[in-house]
Amino acid sequence: MLRGISPHSAVEMHAHRQSGHGTQSTSATVNQGRKFGTWTCFFMLLELVESQREGIGQRRSAAFFRAVADGIPMPRVAWQLYFRAARLLRFGTATVSLMFALQRLSRARMSLPTKLDRKAVTVLITGAGGQIGYSLIFAIARGELLGKDQPVNLHLAEVEAAMPKLRAVVMELEDCACPLLHKVVATCDDVDAFAGVDVALLVGARPRTPDMERKDLLAVNARIFERAGALLDSVASKDVKVVVVGNPANTNALIAAEHAPSIPKENFTALTRLDQNRATGAIAKRLGVSPADVKGAIIWGNHSTTQFPDVSSATVDGKPVPEAVGDEGWLRGAFTSLVQNRGKEVIEARGGAGSAASAAHAIIEHTRDWLLGSDGATVSMGVYTSAAVGGSYGIPPGLVFSLPLRTYRGGRYEVVEGLPVSEYARSRLAVTQTELLEERSKALTTTPESGAGGGGAGVEVA
Ligand code: LMR
Repeated sequence: MLRGISPHSAVEMHAHRQSGHGTQSTSATVNQGRKFGTWTCFFMLLELVESQREGIGQRRSAAFFRAVADGIPMPRVAWQLYFRAARLLRFGTATVSLMFALQRLSRARMSLPTKLDRKAVTVLITGAGGQIGYSLIFAIARGELLGKDQPVNLHLAEVEAAMPKLRAVVMELEDCACPLLHKVVATCDDVDAFAGVDVALLVGARPRTPDMERKDLLAVNARIFERAGALLDSVASKDVKVVVVGNPANTNALIAAEHAPSIPKENFTALTRLDQNRATGAIAKRLGVSPADVKGAIIWGNHSTTQFPDVSSATVDGKPVPEAVGDEGWLRGAFTSLVQNRGKEVIEARGGAGSAASAAHAIIEHTRDWLLGSDGATVSMGVYTSAAVGGSYGIPPGLVFSLPLRTYRGGRYEVVEGLPVSEYARSRLAVTQTELLEERSKALTTTPESGAGGGGAGVEVA
């Protein structure tokens, strides 16, 4: 079903799986891209030869061109026309530029940095009918994720049972008539949901109950993220940027990354911005200042009760936070515990439902800073560790570990190096690292009974 919601936009509701067409069309576009690459190289060579032509002599040059043309599956007459035109117009570097431009235009899988500002970026939200989705979707449609001039397509995924709820969201979305929203696909078919996406916000997963830790969800949620990884690998953009929200977020991100071998590991992140915001908010409240005045709060490690919210390098109005607070005991005790346990506190206060508006807000900030750049600010994200990412702080490779980062437009990030790490901090890092290592070994040995259904879609986390 296709219904227009603005001159540029369309809504599709998919209720049923249609064969795995996504993979086929994807490989076709890649081949097309390769062909253009080959042609461009050939034309460059041709230009080079053409520019040397005066010294070669007309006849030898024509014989060379014919020999080349014989090896290329293109009608002889087309080559002759090209050579004539080349001689007439005496074009040199201009042709090469033109071919490059054509190649770039033809690339169906334009990479994200190129796509920003030019074409609609396709954003997937799993568990889209849930409460986080209800905040997130409208914020994205308003342009809060990628900027007020960046058109977006939304792929909204849900399990079949939640489709009526998602339909209601889509109706409201239509009624907003957001000018930046080009196309909406609402579906419980996970192949359709993941096909061609540039940004994947993986919210859908089984949520915890107040008596659980997030890692208790590993057995039931691992399967959702294995499937999500496989889908990203086969039908998403090869440059897809992934934000994992469903808990346990760090290890779920690791699972997804391991199941998507063709996508760079640095494209997988876990949300710890919610914790960073909680830490910033708690410091601002304690000091009676605006959160905007508090800069540089860091979350290290796991999005769990072992995380280390670190404000030792943070500042408030340019003054070190530890000095402004003047109470080391509070920082190590009540403050740390507040950030570590805030998720559970919210679940209890909301009668069993998890953070929704604050989670959506954090997802927007995480993704926006990652893709558009943090302007020199330090931000925390769970990222895939390696010798270069986290190695200098002694973090072992192959974990998704929250680190202090600086991010740059297009999705590049680097670890903020050289921050002082006290003995106390080192002991906190060791605790959260141990937990992540344990989760990883469980994730790799667990045979989960069942996911929340819908493969990569699943139910909301909150
Ligand atoms: C949160 O931190 O609010 C979410 O991860 C939900 C939860 O289970 O705590």
